Amino acid sequence: MRHFLTLNDFSKDEILAVTNLALKLKQELRNSNHTPYLKGKILAMIFEKSSTRTRVSFEGGIYQLGGHGMFLSHKDIQLGRGEPIKDTSRVISSMVDMVMMRTDRHEKLQEFAEYSSVPIINGLSDDFHPVQLMADYLTMLECGIALPDGIHKNGLKKPIVAYIGDGNNMAHSWINLAAILGFELRVASPLGYFPRTDIIESALKTCKQSGGAIHIMQEPQKAVSGVNVVVTDTWASMGQEEQKKEREKAFVGFCVDDSLMNLAQEDAIFLHCLPAYRGQEVSESVLEGKQSRVFQEANNRLHAQKAIMLALVRLNNLPLAYPLEMEL
Ligand code: CP
Ligand code: NVA
Repeated sequence: MRHFLTLNDFSKDEILAVTNLALKLKQELRNSNHTPYLKGKILAMIFEKSSTRTRVSFEGGIYQLGGHGMFLSHKDIQLGRGEPIKDTSRVISSMVDMVMMRTDRHEKLQEFAEYSSVPIINGLSDDFHPVQLMADYLTMLECGIALPDGIHKNGLKKPIVAYIGDGNNMAHSWINLAAILGFELRVASPLGYFPRTDIIESALKTCKQSGGAIHIMQEPQKAVSGVNVVVTDTWASMGQEEQKKEREKAFVGFCVDDSLMNLAQEDAIFLHCLPAYRGQEVSESVLEGKQSRVFQEANNRLHAQKAIMLALVRLNNLPLAYPLEMEL
């Protein structure tokens, strides 16, 4: 069974195919002629953490594809009272067609997938946020920073992305994306908040094949110099609320403000997965400024999530209600 727990579960060609499909689905939706490819299918959505974008994009997305989204808060299902993951997985997967789960420990998702008879999608774990990155790459594509047939073609220079801030689930997923697709990523974090070494090392091995490059540093100014994309995320992720004060001190100098943005390319875009904390990781002027694409990026969650669901159906040779042209 093929799942989508990290970006490494998809090849470069699969990531490009999913992104191109997302573009097509977005266009179909604009033309009000979207096809119910997943008619009658059920997506269970298990949330052990809060969500706005992930819930709405998956629930709205499965509905537009002709299926039904079932919202399962951990507060309401027996998982929250200690029912083992392996039991929950076998029961839920015997009744639905796909499961999206947002949780804390990534190992929980791996265990859920091990026992599941249907595809599992990671809707965010402490370590990775792959579904967000598919929307982010789609946004890069729409902004002309990446190309639909891969980022090396047509003699265009590869994009350079700077991630400023915490070495968290978003940083790890950017590292994975840069390694698989083969572009340059610069991560600037304060000492003690770097991305995980094992994730960096594994990505560097992939970079040898893909031509990607990953640089980890402590200087935000150096990281953003001449880049095409500047991206950041909250300094205190869900589950780190009690560290908020100490993190605010550690991250002084890491706010993406106009002076930092001015060091990037003139036509560079600013991305943020949201929710954003204005005055902390990003200034109000950058978030609301002309280079910000954050609301386009948030809307792209809908189209990217629909494409991921369809890709998993296709990759697992499961039936679709209508024929779908997709390069998978
Ligand atoms: N970016 C993102 O995943 O947002 P939510 O936490 O609102 O789902
Ligand atoms: N790093 C953040 C992302 C939120 C979408 C968190 O895990 O809370």
